[in-house]
Formats: sequence, structure tokens, C-alpha cells
Amino acid sequence: MSSFLCIGHQGAPGYAPENTLASFEKAIDLGVDGVELDIFIVDGDLVVIHDYRLERLTTGTGLVEEKTFDEIRSLEVKGGGKIPLLTEVLDLVNRRTNVNIEIKSECTAPLVANVINEYVRKHSWKYEQFQVSSFNHYELKTIKALVPEIKTGALIFGVPIGWAKFAAELNVYSINISIEFVNEELIEDAHRRGIKVFVFTVNFPDDIQRMIDLGVDGVFTDYPDRVIEIRSNANVIQESDI
Ligand code: G3P
Ligand code: MG
Repeated sequence: MSSFLCIGHQGAPGYAPENTLASFEKAIDLGVDGVELDIFIVDGDLVVIHDYRLERLTTGTGLVEEKTFDEIRSLEVKGGGKIPLLTEVLDLVNRRTNVNIEIKSECTAPLVANVINEYVRKHSWKYEQFQVSSFNHYELKTIKALVPEIKTGALIFGVPIGWAKFAAELNVYSINISIEFVNEELIEDAHRRGIKVFVFTVNFPDDIQRMIDLGVDGVFTDYPDRVIEIRSNANVIQESDI
């Protein structure tokens, strides 16, 4: 029997504004195995937001990284709530589920390593409760060098030459791939190399079933309840190990 994890993509944005405290709380309520969030650096702090610009998601305008901390904190997320800090999300989660931190901005890995080390040393988190992922694979190399215990995930939006070879060379725990590109050859090669495969963003019931049938290790979803219901009818188990 294989496992199939349900990871709340930005919390549970099918039900609350993405990457807000309300969204993470909702995902935990729904019973996820982990939540995923996106981070940028602002004024030396790590803030949780998906876009590099403010317009789509907030009352603000312009580039996230060019704002001051006070400017970011004065904004409202459309649909309610503030842009949270990474530490505020970790305090809210309080070890109730695992956390996948997706690094969006450059040169962010050292700060993320500091925060994870702090939560392990001072707040009783375990390294295995975290995964750090990024489309910027240099960030993954940096964080792995700084904190070898941290599981890393190589995000890709495409089909790499050599299937999972790049991921083995990067020494990542998983390949986190878009549903548009995942295929049997990549999954088979990754598994042969001991690398897991997680797929984003899987929201439609037929896609969820297809991912179970393909044998991937879990999905990122905006609708955790759908994944939990469909997998409960399938021959898979749940593991709290993202
Ligand atoms: O980590 C999975 C997924 O979040 C990656 O893409 O654009 O939704 O951050 P994106
Ligand atoms: Mg993301």
C-alpha cells in the first residue's frame, strides 16, 4: 500500500484567502498532512505571499520586495486578513501539521534556515516537520548546505532531460512538479532513485483520482477536503511525512 499526502496549497484557498492565517487554520481543520506557503524577503523579514507584485492579492501596488516592513503590514489582503510573517504562520500552526516553505525570492535560504533552526531549538519543532522547496534550485543547494537535516523539494514546471537525474544530483527529498507535466517515466525514475514526487495544484476530483492511480506521493491542493475524501475511497494510506 502506498501513501498519498494531502498538502494544503497556501492553506485552503478554496475556502479562505490564500496564504492568510485563516487559510492555514482552515486547512488544519480539514485534516491536511501539511500546508504549503510562499515567502519573500521584505526589509530582512520573511513574509508569506505568492506574487512578486501586490496588485492581485492586496490593497497595495508595486513590488513586494521594494516595500518597507511597515508598508507591507499596513496592507489588507483582498477577502480579509493581513500578509502574515513566516513566524506568525509557524506560531499559528504550532506543530499541528507539517509546513512546506516555498522560497520565492533570491538569497532567502539563510534566513529560512535561521527560522527553522530557531523553531527546532526553541519551540520543539522537528526538522522532519519542514520541507523547503523552490523553483530556484540554488536556494535548495544553499539551505541543504546550511542545514543538512532539512528535506528539500525541487519545483519544476516542465519535463527535465534525464528525468529525475537532476534531483538526485541536487540531493533533494522530492520533485514537486506541475500537474501539466507529470508523467509515468518521471515518477518511475524518481522512485527508482528514492525520490518522492508531489504534484501541484490538484483541485478537480478526476485529477485527484488520476494522481492516485499514477502513484505519486501526494498533491498540493486548494481543496483539501476533496483529496481527503477521494483518497479515503482508494487503496492508499496517509503519512505525516512531506
Ligand atoms: O509548491 C507548489 C506550488 O505552490 C508551486 O507553484 O506558483 O503555486 O507557488 P506556485
Ligand atoms: Mg507555492
